[in-house]
Amino acid sequence: MIGFSQDSASGWIRSYEIDQLKPQIESAHELLHSGKGPGSAFTGWMKLPDSLDIHELERIHRAADRIRAQSDILIVIGIGGSYLGARAAIDMLTPTFSDLLPREKRSAPHIVFAGNHLSADYLYDLLETIKGQRISVNVISKSGTTTEPAIAFRILKQWMEEQYGREEAQRRIYVTTDKSRGALRKLAVQEQYETFVVPDDVGGRYSVLTPVGLLPIAVAGIDIDAMLDGARDGMHHWQNPDPDDNPCYRYAACRNVLLRKGYQIEVMVQYEPSMQYLTEWWKQLFGESEGKDGRGLFPAGVANTTDLHSMGQYIQDGQRILFETVLSVEESKHTIVVPADDDNGDGLNYLAERSLHEINEKAARGTILAHVAGGVPNLRLTVPERTPYWFGQLVCFFELACAISGYLLAVNPFDQPGVEAYKDNMYALLGKPGYEQKKAELEALLAERDS
Ligand code: PA5
Repeated sequence: MIGFSQDSASGWIRSYEIDQLKPQIESAHELLHSGKGPGSAFTGWMKLPDSLDIHELERIHRAADRIRAQSDILIVIGIGGSYLGARAAIDMLTPTFSDLLPREKRSAPHIVFAGNHLSADYLYDLLETIKGQRISVNVISKSGTTTEPAIAFRILKQWMEEQYGREEAQRRIYVTTDKSRGALRKLAVQEQYETFVVPDDVGGRYSVLTPVGLLPIAVAGIDIDAMLDGARDGMHHWQNPDPDDNPCYRYAACRNVLLRKGYQIEVMVQYEPSMQYLTEWWKQLFGESEGKDGRGLFPAGVANTTDLHSMGQYIQDGQRILFETVLSVEESKHTIVVPADDDNGDGLNYLAERSLHEINEKAARGTILAHVAGGVPNLRLTVPERTPYWFGQLVCFFELACAISGYLLAVNPFDQPGVEAYKDNMYALLGKPGYEQKKAELEALLAERDS
């Protein structure tokens, strides 16, 4: 199972502090499992591996095989929870440089992402790059109305129709959305695209183990069944409300104790470059779930040892407002050793014949000791290997810990009301019908600021 240790935070977290939180954790657990807590209509992710319909899963496998056979590139259009989980899994679980391999040596299409921002140059470059290649599109939006993916899809849909004609474009476009609501669903019905359903009771950032994540992940050639097994085992394992026996809840408890002591920022620390998007997914999960009503930890991330040469200075020596959670992978997939060199001009012979994985591990250990000495509490998570099974279990671990953390903070961990503020302003400034009054107010405000 995933390991958790608070040994490097023992100077900050006393056992009686965890004990005092136990009744609150038990009540958070009860709220979550009884379905009586705020946002309980969106706790379907808890039973996901088992509630996934077998026929739906088979359809995902078949669609993935078809996309793999008919495409050089799959463009995945989506934003936030409709994007980050698939990206995290694909980055973590596929060989880092597989995109650079010639076509005959690749086992899966390139997977690229669009609709997660509004950059004209990004989309232009994408359209230039896909010319002459075999393309499929998976557009993902639970609401079916989010502006960024909707714009990207409108542009790519037209491109596909010009390229392939309407009928062939219809065979190459796959839609993942709500079962009945939203503009995307309407379009999918009208164009007869193959569609997959985002379950009603699963919110975006908890949806990686639904068709939202599973289809693109399967196209990448990743074993989604093993991923679901990992999540299922995690969910069965972390049922005990006592944080002494439940590492998932203990992680939630420790971060809550640290927040109460003024450590307002949690930095997720990775030593594997392929896990940077896991950190991005984790940032969204915790940031959007906890950051409301003036509460919540600010989730940040560093990728070491790279960031030890940039952010390392701040962490060692800056304001004492952050703690770290180090996520380590116990086994590397491959072994590389430092070769011996008779000349030893670089002075590295003390490392000769030692594996890079061991050196990475020592760097992590040394950094934890240094940061703890510098006043930064360190929590530690360990995952045995970088495989689909463990990815699934990590997803489950963080989702459960996040839900419990949210209830400990007395917020609704399943809504995101704050996201609407920027949307309203953007719609008004762009002149969306219905926003006339707001447009006038904002333009007056901008004119006042500019004058
Ligand atoms: O977690 C969430 O609910 C959000 O991050 C959404 O996933 C994101 O806003 C995209 O929404 P949609 O899938 O409706 O386009």
